Amino acid sequence: MKPSILLVDDESAILFLFSDYLSKAGYDVKKSLCLKEAKEAIKSQQFNAVILDLILPDGNGIDWIKDLREACPDIAIIVITGIGDVPIAVEAMRRGADNFLTKPVNMTDLDIFLRKSLELQRLRRKDLTSQRLQKQTQFYFGESTIMKEVKELALMAAKHNLPVLIQGETGTGKNMLSRWIHEHSYRSSAPFVELSCSGPSGDLLASELFGHVKGAFTSAIQDKEGLIEVANGGTLFLDEIGDMDPSNQAQFLKVIEEKQYRRLGEVKVRWSDFRLICATNRDLKEETKLGRFRQDLYFRINIFPIVISPLRDRLDDVRGLVQHILTNRGSYNIEISQEVINLLKKYPWPGNVRELKNILERAIFLAGGGTISVEHFRGIEAAASPAETLQVGIRDLEQLEEEHIRDVIKRMGGNKRKAATALGISKSALYRKLKKFQNPI
Ligand SMILES: Nc1ncnc2c1ncn2[C@@H]1O[C@H](COP(=O)(O)OP(=O)(O)OP(=O)(O)O)[C@@H](O)[C@H]1O
Ligand SMILES: [Mg+2]
Repeated sequence: MKPSILLVDDESAILFLFSDYLSKAGYDVKKSLCLKEAKEAIKSQQFNAVILDLILPDGNGIDWIKDLREACPDIAIIVITGIGDVPIAVEAMRRGADNFLTKPVNMTDLDIFLRKSLELQRLRRKDLTSQRLQKQTQFYFGESTIMKEVKELALMAAKHNLPVLIQGETGTGKNMLSRWIHEHSYRSSAPFVELSCSGPSGDLLASELFGHVKGAFTSAIQDKEGLIEVANGGTLFLDEIGDMDPSNQAQFLKVIEEKQYRRLGEVKVRWSDFRLICATNRDLKEETKLGRFRQDLYFRINIFPIVISPLRDRLDDVRGLVQHILTNRGSYNIEISQEVINLLKKYPWPGNVRELKNILERAIFLAGGGTISVEHFRGIEAAASPAETLQVGIRDLEQLEEEHIRDVIKRMGGNKRKAATALGISKSALYRKLKKFQNPI
């Protein structure tokens, strides 16, 4: 069967050129002009690779990479960036892209990259199949003082029934730790029920939580039990609690206070015995000050707080984590040089353990069974761009970010909307970041 490629680019001339070349080279090519079309294509067909331009009419392709990688763990992702966009390419690879090509794209390069990426995809698929047969990764606490404290807190949390609030940056292991606490509690044989508050809002989130009766709202075509009910006897894990909308915050506060709830559209009062664990990567205290999160709810859920520090603050755990990740995937024989560990300990890991895992996975594939060495960490090396190589890990991540933002704004001729798109963040997120700079732009 021909390998299937999804081409995403808003310039129809380029799409035509690429697809003509790739079809003649024996690929089965599908074209998308925008992110929306690309997302629909991915849902309806299985692809071996995606070639993704980043600046698209309905958003930045970089924002899609994490979801795409999660939805299709083995797919090959190649991004196309403008000349000099090394930081953006690095960010794309950090989020899960395999490779990047700079414009104008040379067709021979494209073919070579595609072949390499498809080989990577084939190996990855084989490996994922065997990984699925193995047990789930265990949470690794590590030897650093801060993580030893986290372990003590988690053990204590497992023994008690108090609501736990886990805070930490993205990829620090909040989901994993919440499951660990459940599995080490007396509720471990009862369900662990997880709901992300960042997806649905309003009635939809309420109906997920509380359930509904037929006709409670337009799309309620039959009775449905809520997750609070399903979690009876077990643990209810509310992920991204900071994203819960105000009306649901008020309703949920009542549930915690009264231990009772009603399905939407029903008068009958119900009761459920669940243990609550919440997680967020936001600073909830700050959110309460800004009026975005109810203070009374914050007090109710923040009874037993656990903060997981970013990986850059516990770099001594990197070696242990690497070993743990390798052992968990059954890669006992893989050797990693001291030089690699030194490099990994210099990198600031903005995506934390998730990023370490992804980067390690890629290095394992690139090494093709041999010893893993520094050249297999192209993303990390590029981050420590030639002029700055040895200093990147030591330099403060925020400073690095500030420099990058200033550079992108400059390249966009001072246009902050365009800069936000290029950076893959919303305009308001960009303004929040700009406010923190000592020398305003
Ligand atoms: N301490 C750890 N030990 C082993 N694996 C870990 C650890 N921390 C994180 N991971 C791995 O990193 C990835 C991200 O973990 P998890 O989803 O729990 O992070 P998170 O903090 O919930 O991230 P987000 O805020 O983006 O939802 C997972 O693949 C998980 O296996
Ligand atoms: Mg999470």
